[in-house]
Amino acid sequence: ALSAFFSTSSRRGAIKNVMVVGSGLMGAGIAQVAAVTNHQVTLVDQTNAILTKSMRSIEKSLGRVAKKKFQDDAEGANKFVTDALSRITVTTEPHSAVGEVDLLVEAIVENIRVKHKLFSDLDKAAPSHAIFASNTSSLPIGEIASVTNRKDRFGGLHFFNPVPLMKLVEVIRISETTDETFDALFQFSKELGKVPVACRDTPGFIVNRLLVPYLLEAIRMLERGDASAKDIDTAMKLGAGYPMGPLELADYVGLDTTKFIIDGWHEKYPDVQVFNPSEILNDLVAREKLGKKTGEGFYKYD
Ligand code: CAA
Ligand code: NAD
Repeated sequence: ALSAFFSTSSRRGAIKNVMVVGSGLMGAGIAQVAAVTNHQVTLVDQTNAILTKSMRSIEKSLGRVAKKKFQDDAEGANKFVTDALSRITVTTEPHSAVGEVDLLVEAIVENIRVKHKLFSDLDKAAPSHAIFASNTSSLPIGEIASVTNRKDRFGGLHFFNPVPLMKLVEVIRISETTDETFDALFQFSKELGKVPVACRDTPGFIVNRLLVPYLLEAIRMLERGDASAKDIDTAMKLGAGYPMGPLELADYVGLDTTKFIIDGWHEKYPDVQVFNPSEILNDLVAREKLGKKTGEGFYKYD
């Protein structure tokens, strides 16, 4: 009874130990903002080389944030960066650290089979109070959670790229998610300095349900030869006030991720024309031109 009391009381306490699995564009950003807001973070990926690269990108991003936050205070800026970095531990072996976690955020490749394998493995090793969350862009949270025995402690925690700058987090509950879990995810998002919104477990949640069809329409416009990539992007920036044009944004999101989202939805909703495959997109991905992260997509990057 005593241990039950302690585990309940620690669950009520704020989320302290966070594991982020996947250290790509999103996982690195999530780890960064969690560390900045005083969480202890374990960042996981498949190889040490990937983790080294991720830590470099986190350091660079922290440097950009610090420069703004501590304009005439080089020492303060330096401390901000080193303190945040010191709260992140990296590993390729999540089992070794998952026993300590309060929250696990998954940000690996957008593939249901790979996500299932990860969650079923870690479910067995994580403490019973730990909450599991997926940062998926397009897969049903309920389907991801189905392989675990903690559906009541499972939800969607959908961040936006670039995580250090984008204020929104979509918090998604499935029918089994308890109020306690949902509140903890909502509270955690606020602790990270984000603005959470609630959404049911529907395809694309709020933002991607609107954004992905728009990105696809822009790609089709390019495919039809209606306008050049540059002119489509200039038009949406200057004519609709978007910070990035749609093709620039697809490059920023990653063309592989964009394709995973579209292919998954096309398979599920074959009658919805906007989710039909795009030749240009398929071709760029086949040639490993995945956008900004690989140096080339619709555009070239240094
Ligand atoms: N980390 C830290 N700081 C960063 C940063 C990063 N990763 N990226 C940019 N910054 C900083 C820059 O240093 C710069 O700081 P200063 O003001 O001190 O110069 C500032 O942010 C502005 O950056 P830039 O001048 O380079 O560029 P910008 O003004 O165009 O802003 C942007 C960059 C915020 C990314 C903006 O272009 C933007 O909002 N783009 C749209 C992003 C978007 O729509 N994201 C959602 C994608 S969809 C998604 O994420 C969901 C999904 O499931 C696919
Ligand atoms: P990414 O390709 O940049 O990174 C994915 C990382 O996961 C890679 O470093 C890869 O090595 C790692 N990984 C793959 N399988 C793994 C495993 N089994 N164990 C540990 N690590 C593994 O992808 P990303 O853009 O960061 O996307 C990650 C997730 O976030 C996807 O579900 C995606 O749909 C979602 N998402 C992406 C964006 C975006 O704009 N890119 C925005 C919101 C959500």
